[in-house]
Amino acid sequence: MPAIAAPASVSAPAAPVTPGADFEALARQDPEIADVVRAEVRREAQGLQLIAAENFTSPAVLAALGSPLANKYAEGYPGARHHGGCEVVDAAERIAIDRAKGLFGAAHANVQPHSGSAAVLAAYAALLKPGDTLLAMGLPSGGHLTHGSPVNFSGRWFDVVGYGVDAESGLIDYEQVAALARTRRPRAIVVGSISYPRHPDYAAFRAIADDVGAYLVADAAHPIGLVAGGAAPSPVPYADVVCATTHKVLRGPRGGMLLCGEELAERIDRAVFPFTQGGAQMHTIAAKAVAFGEAAGPAFATYAHQVVSNARVLAEGLAGEGFAVTTGGTDTHLITADPAPLGMDGREARALLAAAGVVLDTCALPYGEGRGLRLGTAAVTTQGMGEAEMARIVALFALALRGERNAPTEVRELARRFPPYRG
Ligand SMILES: Cc1ncc(COP(=O)(O)O)c(C=O)c1O
Repeated sequence: MPAIAAPASVSAPAAPVTPGADFEALARQDPEIADVVRAEVRREAQGLQLIAAENFTSPAVLAALGSPLANKYAEGYPGARHHGGCEVVDAAERIAIDRAKGLFGAAHANVQPHSGSAAVLAAYAALLKPGDTLLAMGLPSGGHLTHGSPVNFSGRWFDVVGYGVDAESGLIDYEQVAALARTRRPRAIVVGSISYPRHPDYAAFRAIADDVGAYLVADAAHPIGLVAGGAAPSPVPYADVVCATTHKVLRGPRGGMLLCGEELAERIDRAVFPFTQGGAQMHTIAAKAVAFGEAAGPAFATYAHQVVSNARVLAEGLAGEGFAVTTGGTDTHLITADPAPLGMDGREARALLAAAGVVLDTCALPYGEGRGLRLGTAAVTTQGMGEAEMARIVALFALALRGERNAPTEVRELARRFPPYRG
């Protein structure tokens, strides 16, 4: 790779009043990477982004992410850092913590986890020892890698027992969870999934955990944004620890977060730093604070409810097109659907949809062969789409899956009316 010489103005900034993300500076210095950014913006704007874990953050969140707070090293916690000069960035972390506590009604918040996986790792580190038994949703039913996959630390370090969903209804089989808890005596039970489209019964999980003296860990990476907007029940009153991502429906920067009661606060903080992470990413923490601030406003509640209404319309429409929609619908932003009744596997369907500019994931199916499709409505809702556009998306699925030549043009035409980046 040829070395890129930094122009003098970059190596010696002339103390600008509001330094920060400056795309023109990037384009002047490194056109190759600037082109990648431009191409990605184009790709995002020209297609339909239905990946259930994605969203479009606000310009304010992006500005905080691209701010000079990225330059500051800050190991430790506000008021107790291992580096000097943290008194200014401490304010950002205190604001983020206070906003997270207020938003979710939690006694304690740790906003440092670099990702959802890092949050789960820290939760386990706080509560479990290697070799302990962990009861979590099995991966074929929608468990995340951190819930006991053999290729993940969780599967290697813990004795993992997986619970599943009912074959008929696709709903969590609470009797099975209770029976497994009684026979396997886990140290912790995890409620949370990458693809479960319904609200878990947190009270039922709490009762099962109490019955066997286990900790209850809620991995609310997906629904936490709906919780913030009052569009889904909160796990906070029930779980000992709540793990979350900040970048999905919550619409913040890529990152993680932990919520817990006072009694576990110190263990959780020490499990994040110094046990599993080093320096906090202050630019990301500032961006999380911005996102929590946005999520506390009434517009966010409207958005969160619209996300769910949109998903319901989309699920109904896909069922009408012949997809086998898991659990018969959704309570959330997320839909899982098996295209097998249409004579194709999820992988084939995803490829046909991608060719038309509709971007989504495949997912494991708890029962049945092959893979299903997993999609979500957070990003398209942020773009301003409503129920009418969801009905249009259903029609576009049908066009794309029939391989019709006009499908990409029709997808672009819809996307063009709802630009993800404005101004
Ligand atoms: C339930 C659940 N837990 C954990 C994670 C991990 O988040 P990250 O990709 O930020 O590590 C995800 C991400 O999709 C998730 O859905």
